Amino acid sequence: MKKQQLLDTIASEIEKCDLCKKGKSGKAVPGEGNPDADIVFIGEAPGRTEAKTGRPFVGRSGQLLRSLIREAGLKEEDVYITSPVKYLPDRGTPAASDIAHGKLHLEKQLAVIDPKAIVLLGSVAVQGVLGYKIPVKTEHGKIIEKDGRTYLVTLHPAAGLRFPPLKELLIEDFKKVKTLVKK
Ligand code: URA
Repeated sequence: MKKQQLLDTIASEIEKCDLCKKGKSGKAVPGEGNPDADIVFIGEAPGRTEAKTGRPFVGRSGQLLRSLIREAGLKEEDVYITSPVKYLPDRGTPAASDIAHGKLHLEKQLAVIDPKAIVLLGSVAVQGVLGYKIPVKTEHGKIIEKDGRTYLVTLHPAAGLRFPPLKELLIEDFKKVKTLVKK
């Protein structure tokens, strides 16, 4: 089966998943992008705009993320964008159990795409992918090699929108993004 078909199958599992929907609302937001992407960007959970459209990172944070991707010299259509949590959490912030459950779907997506590098946008992404916590405000910019994959830890774009000095840190970290796949 082609990678896109496999990703579509995972997306329909997410659409039918009652555990994913628990304490959440709106459309499923499985992720989008190139199934052969070298780089995957991973966020937190859909916001209101994403839950309305079913597309990841299309609200204000998404516009910042997408402009950072372009400024890093990449094309949006060449990368893949997703989150560990696939529905809008009623409480805004996902619970640890939401992140742990979302990891199951996310791992399947990553196994299909098999990217060279993953950009972890904030602490929920770190927890959802690496399975442990990192203080992202001090550890951002760090590159981690694990199980044949390269990870770049950075902040969530929403943090950059809330506090402009953090946007500068995101811009600095994104300068490393293209080097991740050159090695
Ligand atoms: N924030 C995220 O982490 N993911 C989205 O899809 C949108 C906002």
